[in-house]
Amino acid sequence: MTGGAQGAVAAEGMTIQHVAVVGAGTMGAGIAQVAAMAGYDVVLQDVQEPQLERARTTIATMLDKGVDRGKVTEAQRDETWARLTLAQDLGVAVASADLVVEAIPEKMEWKAALFREVETLCPERTLFASNTSSLSISRLANETKRADRFLGMHFFNPVPIMKLLELVVGEATNESTLAAARAMGARMGKSVIVVKDAPGFATSRLGIALGLEAIRMVEQGVASAEDIDLAMTLGYGHPMGPLRLTDLVGLDVRLEIARYLHGEFGDDRFRPPVLLEQMVEEGRIGKKAGRGFYDWE
Ligand SMILES: NC(=O)c1ccc[n+]([C@@H]2O[C@H](COP(=O)([O-])OP(=O)(O)OC[C@H]3O[C@@H](n4cnc5c(N)ncnc54)[C@H](O)[C@@H]3O)[C@@H](O)[C@H]2O)c1
Repeated sequence: MTGGAQGAVAAEGMTIQHVAVVGAGTMGAGIAQVAAMAGYDVVLQDVQEPQLERARTTIATMLDKGVDRGKVTEAQRDETWARLTLAQDLGVAVASADLVVEAIPEKMEWKAALFREVETLCPERTLFASNTSSLSISRLANETKRADRFLGMHFFNPVPIMKLLELVVGEATNESTLAAARAMGARMGKSVIVVKDAPGFATSRLGIALGLEAIRMVEQGVASAEDIDLAMTLGYGHPMGPLRLTDLVGLDVRLEIARYLHGEFGDDRFRPPVLLEQMVEEGRIGKKAGRGFYDWE
């Protein structure tokens, strides 16, 4: 990490107000909602119009439920909508962004190409963050000319509910970028942890290890998915079992992470189980598809 006097000067001048969230899937919609609720001006962008519409519905449902439960006032809901814009045009989305948070699929090449494009469209001052679950932040940062102003901002699903924000510091990330991300995490009501740029960081490395082992146990007929989940919830006090969690995250997302971690660590711990590969091939990718280890319909 670099920093020093230059970093301190930059930190003083760095105020994030305009945020562009790129990718309006499970995570992007949640990040955009939470940022807008915290008072940021947010543009949520996606290449697919139906995804933007789906994000609009998801956010509306979350906010309306919050109002029904007395956790969000009607004024807060309306102010959140007033600060949130949905856009398909990337140039429009990042034109005045102080921070771009990328939340597109877990593929290094896609993310690298996106950041290269964003850099041609956004102001010089813009900070870059990736919501990647596992990929190397330093490698992604080196695709841009601002590796010093690049970091991982790893949110958790569902973003409006999960309290953790894992900040991942790349080799070149400077102090002021980390400080700005920390401040944003606090303003959004998140508890922040700071982790070195190691494959899978702190969260995914441990979470995927447990999830893959649970899938191997289903594969080997050790117990049913329900019973394995009960083993962890009732026996170990986990709020949710590893297989239900895999359904919520998306089996496709977890498979990508497992493949990457397997390649990075080069041993069998993270080798994707055959059952996981099969289920993804069959489209049984979890809650978003209506079925995974559980039937969600
Ligand atoms: N799902 C989770 O529980 C979870 C948790 C933490 C982090 N993550 C990470 O967040 C990222 C996104 O995951 P997700 O589950 O939200 O995925 P998702 O598949 O739900 O959404 C991805 C979205 O990105 C859009 N997209 C694809 N290419 C694009 C491009 N070039 N420009 C703009 N939009 C584009 C897609 O249309 C889609 O709407 C991944 O890196 C994933 O590893 C996921």
